[in-house]
Amino acid sequence: MQTQEIIDLLNKDRANELIAILQYMNHHYRVTGENFTALQDMFKELGIVEMRHAEKLAERISLLGGEPVSRTDALKETTNLTVQDPSQPNQMVEANLDYERMAINDYTDHIKMIGSNDPVTTRILEDILAEEEEHANNLQSWLGTDENAFELRAAG
Ligand SMILES: [Fe+2]
Ligand SMILES: [Fe+2]
Repeated sequence: MQTQEIIDLLNKDRANELIAILQYMNHHYRVTGENFTALQDMFKELGIVEMRHAEKLAERISLLGGEPVSRTDALKETTNLTVQDPSQPNQMVEANLDYERMAINDYTDHIKMIGSNDPVTTRILEDILAEEEEHANNLQSWLGTDENAFELRAAG
């Protein structure tokens, strides 16, 4: 695997993180209704964790000699995700849960693809993946259903 391929995967992950940050911040400011302060706190906390992810990815991309995606035009070319802004709190939670599940799938794939080609990058992605699983669980718990927040996928 070429270093450029790793940089491209990391930039896709970073672009998705940047959209997730905007979405969490948007929901943080807009959420209303019963128990809205608990949701405000959760959206704020999760958004800040996504900021750390975006920074970690940028640092690694930089170290590998790439340019971390930052400009809005480049962002549009790197991710298909857009900020979802539903009006109901539970729809906000579901929209974020969708993005967390997508992140879990992407990070799982990228860890497999990069593997031993770049063990340090792989370890960084594993640390991020563990936090995305926590996020999915937190959001799923808020929805109060027994459904699994994400499915573990068989290796290989
Ligand atoms: Fe993240
Ligand atoms: Fe997350």
